[in-house]
Amino acid sequence: MSDQALQTFNEQRFCDDLTAWYRENKRDLPWRKEKDPYKIWVSEIMLQQTRVDTVIPYFERFISLFPTPEALADAEEETVLKAWEGLGYYSRARNLQAAVREVSGTYGGRVPDTKKEVSSLKGVGPYTAGAILSIAYDKPEPAVDGNVMRVLSRNLAIYDDISKVGTRKRFEGIAESLVTRTVPSDFNQALMELGALICTPRSPSCLICPVQEHCRAREEGVQDLLPVKAKKKPPVAKSMKAAVIENGNGDILIERRPDTGLLAKLWQFPNCEDQSEDLSGIIEYLAGLGIPGVTAEEFTYVQHVRHVFSHIVWEIDVYKVKIPGSLPQDRDGLRWVKREDVDFFPFPVPHQKIIDYTLKGDMNE
Ligand code: ADE
Repeated sequence: MSDQALQTFNEQRFCDDLTAWYRENKRDLPWRKEKDPYKIWVSEIMLQQTRVDTVIPYFERFISLFPTPEALADAEEETVLKAWEGLGYYSRARNLQAAVREVSGTYGGRVPDTKKEVSSLKGVGPYTAGAILSIAYDKPEPAVDGNVMRVLSRNLAIYDDISKVGTRKRFEGIAESLVTRTVPSDFNQALMELGALICTPRSPSCLICPVQEHCRAREEGVQDLLPVKAKKKPPVAKSMKAAVIENGNGDILIERRPDTGLLAKLWQFPNCEDQSEDLSGIIEYLAGLGIPGVTAEEFTYVQHVRHVFSHIVWEIDVYKVKIPGSLPQDRDGLRWVKREDVDFFPFPVPHQKIIDYTLKGDMNE
């Protein structure tokens, strides 16, 4: 049964007007040059939680490094993480590689074109499945993300909270009804494009909107009230101390983060959570790594790094420490590296800031 909000809505004309506008006005984006399902997939994974302008250079570099599913399947995980460095949400990269390995193994290197198969791939949720199937294979599947919910909630004056799973399902039903009336690839991208260029979160450009005559929010003057979205909790601050440790050979100690959890498998400078005023916490942490007997006097304060993740803020005080000799020995997940080689490893953004200021600043002195 059709959604109640669609009952007096001219679905066909909405689809036709929106699609015609898209064909005339679409941006020339690198993933729109061809319909290779693998490239569409990579772009859609990158575009989750990340702006188009940020994604473009990452996408181009990623595709030149890994032009086919086989190339990505065969790559070292660390090389993939390095190519993703700075984009954030690194599980996207790990899941993409795991899924592409399955495509190579199970589907002979061809991205599957059924909802059941594509949705079974790691990291491919309803949005990504719909985007791949519609954009690459022109299947009439909805692809509903936050931008699309904004566009539809305004056009149909729907006040449901878009952070709720049930609301997303409702919009998927509506988008499915619409996409079956038109060219799926163009229509789904048109919804995304309208959300990016015209029906923006703040100050939407209603006067030049190609579907203004359909839009109930505009008619009622409520476009600034929609979509309804519950406020999320502010991120929690975490006080930390980090140590850039240089040994007698001038090498720098780095460690790999655990295999699971936040920023899994990325590299970092040794650090710990520490609320205290003194250095006892980080001294104890270093002792645990096999560097005993460092005293507070050997620490030189260098910088404060603040980095906001979606749910947490890292507040890191960074220190330099010089130690004689070169113990502890390298082991899995703990390595001494030459200063100029630190860049070969994938680091989270706050630790890249440490590289840029504490390590490279030092080299330029
Ligand atoms: N946002 C998500 N997917 C997109 C796409 N294919 N083009 C532009 N913006 C997007």
